[in-house]
Amino acid sequence: MQYMIETRELVKTFGKFTAVDGLSITVPPGAIYGFVGPNGAGKTTTMRILTTLTRPTSGTATIGGHDIGAERRKVRRMIGYMPDEFGVYDDLRVWEYLDFFAACYDIARDERRRLIADLLELVELSHRREDMVNELSKGLKQRLSLARTLAHDPQVLILDEPASGLDPRARIEIRELMVELAKMGKTIFFSTHILADVENICTHIGIIEGGKMIMQGDMAEMKARLTPHRVIVVTVKDQAVAEQVRGVVGGIVGVLDVDIIEPKGGRSRVQIQFNGDDDGVALINQKLNQADILIYSFSEEVRDLEALFMGVTQGIVT
Ligand SMILES: Nc1ncnc2c1ncn2[C@@H]1O[C@H](COP(=O)(O)OP(=O)(O)O)[C@@H](O)[C@H]1O
Ligand SMILES: [Mg+2]
Repeated sequence: MQYMIETRELVKTFGKFTAVDGLSITVPPGAIYGFVGPNGAGKTTTMRILTTLTRPTSGTATIGGHDIGAERRKVRRMIGYMPDEFGVYDDLRVWEYLDFFAACYDIARDERRRLIADLLELVELSHRREDMVNELSKGLKQRLSLARTLAHDPQVLILDEPASGLDPRARIEIRELMVELAKMGKTIFFSTHILADVENICTHIGIIEGGKMIMQGDMAEMKARLTPHRVIVVTVKDQAVAEQVRGVVGGIVGVLDVDIIEPKGGRSRVQIQFNGDDDGVALINQKLNQADILIYSFSEEVRDLEALFMGVTQGIVT
């Protein structure tokens, strides 16, 4: 088993509306995977499919190698799911709440007492043991909810917006808890619409919008791809001049890659991947002039991927 969570071409439609649109996700064991997308992107729907609460319209998914359709019981045993809504629990004390869910997993009474003490300690709620659940702040409720997902010691945690609606401090606490749980060997798949939530703790990120994966990869890959770098396009007479351009700009600091594209009609276009600032762009221009290269046009292009990401992040960054 290469991936702890793997989906292939997952689709979910509601009537004519497609909420999840051919989603392929790969989450290696031990990863903290940030599932990022604006509201309405399809995160909750995807998570409900993974937790066997909703069936996909088409496509497949496995958790720990078990198929979510054919092996639902095994899948459910493997996962702890924290939904985006806490729900209403009147008249329950903190420990009773955990006791209730532990009992649902057929954990014996004696064992439950110990387990609850351990869980409360882990999420630092021991001192609130006797308090009523409804009196807890949102941040403490989230911690309690997280404790609940751990009752049957699942290998995989699927957390739907665990940090949403929390104040900055509570948000950091939830993040620290996730790191702690990953250290315990759990694989964590969590959703967020806030890009800042994924920056420091994730090992992997997937960005979705409109039910489609825009990009996913490990942190290093994603950072490299999201580094704001520009593409400069230089048009020259022919291939020979294009090679001259390559020779001149190839050595400039910040130039990542130089490609020669030959469009129809003879002229050559040189595409320069550059991660410098405006002065750097001016320097490239200047060097080409100094080398007496005849430039037909010199312009900057926005990459498609970046354009897409900008569109998505406008919805994400708050
Ligand atoms: N049961 C449903 N019936 C109809 N549309 C739904 C249903 N559940 C979700 N949707 C729609 O699917 C889209 C994705 O929703 P959701 O998965 O909740 O997104 P996210 O969690 O990323 O905010 C939204 O446009 C939502 O309105
Ligand atoms: Mg949601």
